[in-house]
Amino acid sequence: MMDPMNVSLESLVRTNILQLSPYSSARDESPDWMPEQRVMLDANENNLGGPLDPVLARYPGNLRNQLTAQVAQWKGLETSQVFLGNGSDEAIDLLLRAFAEPGRDNVIQMPPTYGMYAVQAKIQGAEVRNAPLNPDFRPNPKAVAAVTDQHSKILFLCSPNNPTGASLPESFITEILETFPGLVVVDEAYQDFSKEKSWLSRIPAYPNLVVLQTFSKAWGLAGIRLGMAFAHPFVVRQLNNIRYPYNINSLTIQHALSALKQKEEVAQQVAQIREEREKLAEALKTLPTVLEVYPSDANFLLIRVKDADSLYRQLALQGILVRNRHKELHCSQCLRITIGKPSENQQLLAALHQFDIHS
Ligand SMILES: Cc1ncc(COP(=O)(O)O)c(C=O)c1O
Repeated sequence: MMDPMNVSLESLVRTNILQLSPYSSARDESPDWMPEQRVMLDANENNLGGPLDPVLARYPGNLRNQLTAQVAQWKGLETSQVFLGNGSDEAIDLLLRAFAEPGRDNVIQMPPTYGMYAVQAKIQGAEVRNAPLNPDFRPNPKAVAAVTDQHSKILFLCSPNNPTGASLPESFITEILETFPGLVVVDEAYQDFSKEKSWLSRIPAYPNLVVLQTFSKAWGLAGIRLGMAFAHPFVVRQLNNIRYPYNINSLTIQHALSALKQKEEVAQQVAQIREEREKLAEALKTLPTVLEVYPSDANFLLIRVKDADSLYRQLALQGILVRNRHKELHCSQCLRITIGKPSENQQLLAALHQFDIHS
């Protein structure tokens, strides 16, 4: 296998993407323009300003640069290592589009895991290969090696993993980074809730490492659709070359810039959610219908129950929606439950208690 320091990122990219001349606006081509000082007659906007905020009358190029710079500073990276996407789902999609040649390349995932890796890969026409987790949800390096070949372009690692809640061991990810011949995507959507360290600081050491994070979970901003990919500047450039020119809208950027001024409030909510998670886990363990509560580094718990389908329906009838994962690999009779507000967690426990009494 390959020394990651010798990974030729260029050789991993699809030829048509490498050869692409990306769309470029007049403002991209005139990097020294200052919005306040220019008469902007280049983009066919409504220069009278429209009915709302005049900022919204403009395409969001300059605002995007501001947000990229702020995110880079916050994460201790260069702007060239930061990609902003319409949710991290967009980053997953664009990674596949840039690196996986339809009909030829394959990508690897470790089920049970986040469903969009396989969906987006299939849309792209890339083969999806599975290197299943062991039944105890630990990773299996041999399973990864067994399905890897020279056409393996991306390995998706989700840590903490959805739906299991478990973080992948550092030694496993290091081994993968040092042996896998393609990109290693570490999806850290739930990292804020974890006791483990982020992989961001390892980006300079591993050119094949891509770290995904999102504003949808800890930041409480799922509605603005903002995700981040952090990687070697070459990888970030490929993603920027193929995204829609204005994939992040101005409202999203405004909200993200405001949120970044409130990091402490976010940290407090994360601490509260973690505390609630432990309380809920302990309470669930006392219920006869709950056979197992898996340890979680995320803002949800995976539980094994006596009859997941029936419990799922009963909860739904009481207006409580959880995620039924019964059909996922190694997850028979499992439900995934997001940590709610304290009152919601109490409602859930009361409903489960009722279920125990009547079953
Ligand atoms: C592991 C994982 N990655 C990515 C996402 C998508 O996040 P976003 O809202 O940023 O597209 C989710 C959403 O549930 C997720 O569970």
